[in-house]
Amino acid sequence: MSRWLKVLLTVFLVIVVLLALGITFTIGWRPFIGPKTRALTDRRFEASPTRLKRGEYIVGNVAGCLFCHSELDTTAEGLPVKAGTAGAGRSFAQEGIPFLTSPNITPDATTGAGNWSDDTLARAIREGVGHDGRTLFPMMPYVNYRSMSDEDLASVVTYLRSLPTVSRQQPKSNVPFPVNRFINAVPQPVEEPVPEPNMSTPEKRGQYLVTLASCGDCHTPMDDRGQYMAGLEFAGGSTFLYTDRAPKAAANITPAVNGIPYYTEALFLETIRTGRVRERKLTDVMPWGHYRNMTDEDLKSIFAYLKTLKPVDHYVDNAQSPTKCARCTLEHGGGERNKAVGG
Ligand code: HEC
Ligand code: HEC
Repeated sequence: MSRWLKVLLTVFLVIVVLLALGITFTIGWRPFIGPKTRALTDRRFEASPTRLKRGEYIVGNVAGCLFCHSELDTTAEGLPVKAGTAGAGRSFAQEGIPFLTSPNITPDATTGAGNWSDDTLARAIREGVGHDGRTLFPMMPYVNYRSMSDEDLASVVTYLRSLPTVSRQQPKSNVPFPVNRFINAVPQPVEEPVPEPNMSTPEKRGQYLVTLASCGDCHTPMDDRGQYMAGLEFAGGSTFLYTDRAPKAAANITPAVNGIPYYTEALFLETIRTGRVRERKLTDVMPWGHYRNMTDEDLKSIFAYLKTLKPVDHYVDNAQSPTKCARCTLEHGGGERNKAVGG
């Protein structure tokens, strides 16, 4: 071998090794080899009246499954499910995400979930891998649903099986490159049993409900890679839109002075049930219409949990026009009033 060939080969090998190390320590290999997943099992969830009832409650009133998997009646307050479309899927173009659709999860055999096994649904819901093996776009909050207890999961699947069948083929999501590769790092198999949540105090009960309800996905601002911004948990700032409704930033719901320190339990319940903070009407994109039928005990628990949050100093006010915020780096009403951390 000539000397130069050896040098070239060495250089080439060094580059390969560096690249491999680089990938390992930065984006990891998932973008190239696909999501971490597990083989499907033949487990079946036994239907029971208790499971049906619990499943209906979670799917319709806590976890927002129907908010995201149905067409919404935009003429009504609180964006309720449009009659005849419950679970039949929809496009997210209204939210400004034209490449995303949620699938039909009614029991229709050709266009819905009729031929997907219980474990196929279970894996999609808690682990983020679809019936066709694809990585689900993490706006489908499977990262939160990882904490869903086995019993609640069984209830959710049991209830989905009872939805009226709707025949509607939704086009597949078409997540653009390279995002479609990066999201392969998100799914994680759930291999251990997930026991019933600790409900011994209102705060603990509330924490579980807030996780299933994905409050944090909207109220904790995310960076451009979809990661929660550390230190800004539940402090608001990300902007949400829905068709022709004015874009609104999620509120700071921590007990900080510029959060919701003045909320009483009664005001919180009234807000979620009516979509109004006294005279002030909330945008329907805050899915109060899909939380409003939670029981008093559950809403009170959520409020008890919110009161335990670390107060985060972050001024967000939708009554003002959006300005750049040094704290969360996003643009939202009152942004100019915030200082960078340590600034
Ligand atoms: C914030 C919106 C949102 C919520 C809430 C939501 N989903 Fe989804 N879901 C989606 C989207 C979007 C997809 C499709 C993702 C994709 O195509 O990459 C999806 C995919 C799925 C799939 C995968 C189907 C397949 O192709 O295998 C199932 C099953 C599912 N969701 C069930 C549920 C259930 C049950 C709940 C409630 C416990 C729920 N979803 C809550 C948006 C949501
Ligand atoms: C899809 C995104 C989204 C989700 C999910 C969401 N919110 Fe909101 N929330 C918003 C937005 C946007 C606003 C601002 C509404 C406005 O100002 O019109 C808001 C406002 C609020 C307010 C009113 C604060 C004020 O201004 O007085 C409360 C309270 C609240 N959310 C609590 C919750 C809780 C609790 C959950 C979970 C059970 C939750 N939100 C889930 C988007 C969301």
